[in-house]
Amino acid sequence: MVESTKNATLSFDGKTLELPMYSPTSGPDVIDISKLYAQGDVFTHDPGFTSTSSCESSITFIDGEKGELLHRGYPIDQLAEKSHYLEVCYLLLYGELPTAAQLEDFETRVTRHTMVHEQMHNFFRGFRRDAHPMATMVGVVGAMSAFYHDSTDITDPWQREVAAIRLIAKLPTIAAMAYKYSVGQPFVYPRNDIDYASNFLRMCFAVPAEEYEVNPILSRAMDRIFTLHADHEQNASTSTVRLASSSGANPFACIAAGIACLWGPAHGGANQACLEMLQEIGSVDRIPEFIARAKDKNDPFRLMGFGHRVYKNFDPRAKVMKQSADEVLDLLGVENNPILQVAKELEAQALADPYFAEKKLFPNVDFYSGIILEAMGFPTSMFTPIFAVSRTIGWVSQWKEQISDPKMRIGRPRQLYTGSGARDYVDVENR
Ligand code: ACO
Repeated sequence: MVESTKNATLSFDGKTLELPMYSPTSGPDVIDISKLYAQGDVFTHDPGFTSTSSCESSITFIDGEKGELLHRGYPIDQLAEKSHYLEVCYLLLYGELPTAAQLEDFETRVTRHTMVHEQMHNFFRGFRRDAHPMATMVGVVGAMSAFYHDSTDITDPWQREVAAIRLIAKLPTIAAMAYKYSVGQPFVYPRNDIDYASNFLRMCFAVPAEEYEVNPILSRAMDRIFTLHADHEQNASTSTVRLASSSGANPFACIAAGIACLWGPAHGGANQACLEMLQEIGSVDRIPEFIARAKDKNDPFRLMGFGHRVYKNFDPRAKVMKQSADEVLDLLGVENNPILQVAKELEAQALADPYFAEKKLFPNVDFYSGIILEAMGFPTSMFTPIFAVSRTIGWVSQWKEQISDPKMRIGRPRQLYTGSGARDYVDVENR
């Protein structure tokens, strides 16, 4: 824990409290209010946690004003350009870039855990074929705790390590199985001789009837999508994982909770919602109508893929994603795709509009990821499962950091109660 170097003074109701302050490596100072209730008999109130730090972490840093995202200090654009997903996984999980030998060992460990227990296949068959793959994933990842008992004891560092590797390795297999099940095709087993991203594409798109060759440009684009979504500090799903884990719940249950939270359209569900919005707009001439709706206070419609709680500048991931979208669409010969044209024009018109400029609303990572995934052949329902695969390393790294923290306590927020005061029960015949 960082040492307190100065205090903040809080005065209310004739009381004056001295609250310790901490200075992080980067970012704003924090005021420690953990003793506020004990010393001042008051709570703080911050719905949506807009000004509240919930933990001490050394994994990821975001400067929303500058549009900067660092993993263990390394900028995301450098990682997206020079590194690859499994190396970034190692960095997030263990804190440093691996040596060649460490990377080889890590990749081997992940590769050797990609298959799921054969009996889990029966689990998939219990779902309706038209189930959303996220619904299937929440259920199946939660069910991992019923299959991998030997890595659920969170007090044992070795079991924690095995659980982490299992989650990183098996999530692509589970997501691909959820997809195959939804389209009525046989499950495709993972292969140990191809890289993580290629293996995922193969498990999604290969069929037993013919050979499947992964295009290296698509595999690189897939790897970049995984890398760009790997972690994003204390976002809603990561905070959900940490809150679930604070009670001592097993890692598979905690990650299933994170997947459930990610599903919402304000979070990971935005990539699906964004592509559906672009399809609904349909042509460039309808863009002004949708921009007007996004600005209308009486219309709940929002421009999906725009805006972010933390970024008040370009999302640095969106810049790399945009470049990847151009490469993939060029390769696939779909650069004149009407959806892409709508996306590019919508971005230009929104950025030139004073409403979006004043509110600092810029395209986020989801604005372009959906276009790439659709060009690769994924249905929109698979966009959020792919986000879940990518973010698993972030959830796992944050979970591991939390469990190793000797000061970990159960998370238990308080409330501003506005309900009825105490009153006596009234028998039903007298109500
Ligand atoms: N379109 C139109 N107006 C918007 C948008 C948008 N996409 N986003 C925010 N605004 C407006 C709000 O109406 C609000 O206006 P007001 O101050 O006049 O009331 C103002 O900008 C601030 O918005 P909030 O909702 O208070 O910002 P918050 O930080 O709570 O929400 C969020 C952030 C949820 C991402 C929001 O911008 C949004 O709904 N965007 C669309 C969904 C999306 O793309 N989500 C993906 C996030 S990235 C990720 O999860 C990987």
